[in-house]
Amino acid sequence: MKKQAYLLLIAGASFFAACNNDKPTDTFAMKPGITEKPFGVFENETVTKYTITNANGMQVGIINYGGTVTNIITPDKEKQMGDVVLGFDSLSGYLQKTNPYFGCLVGRYGNRIAKGKFTLDGKIYQLPLNNNGNTLHGGLRGLDKVTWQVSKPAGDSSLLLTYTSKDGDQGFPGNLKIEVVYTLRSDNALQIAYSATTDKATPVNLTNHSYFNLSGGKEGTVLNHEIMINANKYTAVDTLLIPTGQLPDVKGTPMDFTSAKAIGKELASVKGGYDHNWVLNRKGTDLEQVATAYDAASGRLMEVSTTEPGLQFYTGNFLDSTLHGKNNWVYAQHAAFCMETQHFPDGPNQPSFPNTILKPGEIYKSVTRYKFSVK
Ligand code: GLA
Repeated sequence: MKKQAYLLLIAGASFFAACNNDKPTDTFAMKPGITEKPFGVFENETVTKYTITNANGMQVGIINYGGTVTNIITPDKEKQMGDVVLGFDSLSGYLQKTNPYFGCLVGRYGNRIAKGKFTLDGKIYQLPLNNNGNTLHGGLRGLDKVTWQVSKPAGDSSLLLTYTSKDGDQGFPGNLKIEVVYTLRSDNALQIAYSATTDKATPVNLTNHSYFNLSGGKEGTVLNHEIMINANKYTAVDTLLIPTGQLPDVKGTPMDFTSAKAIGKELASVKGGYDHNWVLNRKGTDLEQVATAYDAASGRLMEVSTTEPGLQFYTGNFLDSTLHGKNNWVYAQHAAFCMETQHFPDGPNQPSFPNTILKPGEIYKSVTRYKFSVK
């Protein structure tokens, strides 16, 4: 075989391999754009996996089941590509009862509503209880467990996901029309833009539940990752993680991440591990950088910007080595952390917290960016 033809064959084969197993090689730049492939079947509908690739070769995988981010593949300081989010190789992994919300969209109300109960315009609403007598992440069948419609807006770097949650769905009032636009930007940021409208007043708090481990599978836990959260206060919680209404200062406590510090530094003195909402220091309501995470071993840096007032920083406390994820990772306790941008937990029952009630005629809007680089 002639040398040129041989090289072409190798290049073709590695492109094929890279497209099919989501492990891009660092020797073959992936074409920017969006590819699609079947990822399984859920409730008689095909689940599709979309992979967005940008001009730098960064890739984000998203499935329409739960609007779930399955992969975020970014370079480390040696330019080796690695996947920085937890997840599964197949749909059956995501459908497991014990899937702890890996990468999914969360709603209608991300985080907890005490006793699953709230009163709106004089009417009491009761939601299904799924977390120690409270409602977590929108109920038994939240937005993470439904199939979203997906379309591709112009530009070849975005996916538009839409879903209408019917009046009464999981006990919430109003037909809630939700749109989420995932964009992989040229600056290596994954942007998630949420919007929603309703025909009856209803609580709304949408977020994404990606579990990050910036080492790209090289470190079993994130205890060495250094975190900064621009917040002087957090929402104090009871033993069931329901806010008490107090907003204590972080100063002088293990909750202080105003200067970057390793997750593991004071984790042992936080009962159960970090699973709290930080009250972000904000200048206004525009997109502002609120947190960073840095893994010195890989050199990967993640910068989080949001329009939201709160950030749930959760250190994978409930992971217990029973879940086996993609690339044969075993997900031990603290294998990853989440930074869920949000309104505060139990907002509908806490008059002093930022408003979470969306009314007919209003548009719910929220934007978050997770930007990746190395240093
Ligand atoms: C959120 C919650 C945690 C936990 C995870 C999912 O981050 O705050 O307590 O329920 O989701 O396991």
